[in-house]
Amino acid sequence: MSQAIWSAVEHYTVSTLHAKDDALERALAACEAAGLPPISVAPAEGKLLHLFARACGATRILEIGTLGGYSAIWLARALPAGGRLITLEISPEHASVAASNLAAADLSERVEIRVGRALDLLPGIEREMDRPFDLVFVDADKQSNAEYVRWGVRLTRPGGVIIVDNVVRAGEVADAGSTDERVLGVRRMNQVLVNDPYVAPRVDATAIQTVGSKGYDGFAFIAVKHPE
Ligand code: SAH
Ligand code: DHB
Ligand code: MG
Repeated sequence: MSQAIWSAVEHYTVSTLHAKDDALERALAACEAAGLPPISVAPAEGKLLHLFARACGATRILEIGTLGGYSAIWLARALPAGGRLITLEISPEHASVAASNLAAADLSERVEIRVGRALDLLPGIEREMDRPFDLVFVDADKQSNAEYVRWGVRLTRPGGVIIVDNVVRAGEVADAGSTDERVLGVRRMNQVLVNDPYVAPRVDATAIQTVGSKGYDGFAFIAVKHPE
C-alpha cells in the first residue's frame, strides 16, 4: 500500500464526489505559476474543512497560514452571508497571490488577509473581535503549533473546533527521538493539549492520519469544551 494507490483513490474520490470547480483549479494554477510551494491542502482535505465549517454553522473562521488562499476559498465558501474569515500570512508575496485568488473566486468581501507574523497579529485580533471564532484552522510554521493552539483556545467559542494540519509527518510524529523542528512542534502541541493548565481542561482532541497526493500526514481535531 503506497503512494500510487493513495493517489488513485484520491483521484477516484474527487472525480466521483466533487463537482468540477474552475475557481479552485485556477487558484492552484496561479499558486504554481507564482512559484509558491505545492503545500496547499489536497482537494478532499479542503472539502472536508468546508464541510466541517458548514456542519458547525461557522460564521467566524480564523486561518493561520494562508499561502495562496486555496484552503481559504474552501473555508470562506462555507460561510453564510455576513460571515467572515480572517487569514494570517507572514509572506507579502503569498498574501498577494491569495488576495488575487480570493478576488477571482468572488470572496474578497468575506475574507480579510492580514500580513505579518501570526503571533504578532493574534493579540490585535483578540482585542478587536466582536465575538469568538467557531472554527480555527492552523496551517503555518509547525514550530509554533503549541502557541497557535493556546491562542485558538482563547479565541474559539465553547463548542467550536480547532483543526491543525500536518500533525503526522509521514509517521515521524511517533518518533520520540526526532530532531525535526516541525515534528517537535507537533509533539509540543500535543503535550500542551493534555498538560497545559489553561489549555488541557478546555479541550478534547484526537488526530486522524491521512494519505493521498500529499503523502502520509494528518489532521488534529481539537474541540473547545463548554465550561463544566
Ligand atoms: N493553508 C494553506 C497552506 C498554508 S502553507 C492552504 O492549504 O492553502 C503555510 C503558510 O504559512 C505559508 O504561506 C507560510 O508563509 C505561512 N507562515 C509561515 N510562518 C508563519 C507565521 N509565523 N505567521 C504567519 N504565517 C506563516
Ligand atoms: C509543509 C507545510 C504544510 O502546511 C503542508 O501541508 C505540507 C508541507 C512543509 O512545510 O513542508
Ligand atoms: Mg499544511
